[in-house]
Amino acid sequence: MKQKIPQMLNEQINKELFSAYLYLDFVNFFVQKGLMGFAHWYRVQAQEERDHAMLFYDYLHHNNENITLDAIEKPETTQQTSLDVVRAGLAHEEFITASIDDIYAAALAAKDFRTTQFLDWFVKEQGEEEANANDLVTKVELFGADPKSLYLLDAELGARVYAPPTLVVG
Ligand code: FEO
Repeated sequence: MKQKIPQMLNEQINKELFSAYLYLDFVNFFVQKGLMGFAHWYRVQAQEERDHAMLFYDYLHHNNENITLDAIEKPETTQQTSLDVVRAGLAHEEFITASIDDIYAAALAAKDFRTTQFLDWFVKEQGEEEANANDLVTKVELFGADPKSLYLLDAELGARVYAPPTLVVG
């Protein structure tokens, strides 16, 4: 692999682990608010982010590349309202999509088609991640201010089931 691509993939491990860390901070926020369904939803999301990190990790090892594990940034959930937190989640997913798009563009330019093929799963996954985050923002905008509706939304989010990634490396 050309050196720039493994380096970018290595950095993506850190970004995905930071995503897991950020969403665990969101879990903390919602537990403090007593919204246990929201907390569960982000706990499942954090689990998915760890899975994403491990896919990049396994892909690099599978291609005989060394991995450097850097420090994970401290998440700062300074938002005051549930709506602002879910909006921050959407903004973070947009940031991750842009990061994956950058690796994809670099891999394409380097004719590293193995990596573009690997990243195809993530391109699709990011579409789903953004749609889910956007859906959550819309629901909180619509129903977040009404206690009865918020109770039902919290129950709905509490039913989210963790599903392991459909991508297998190796
Ligand atoms: Fe790993 Fe939420 O993107």
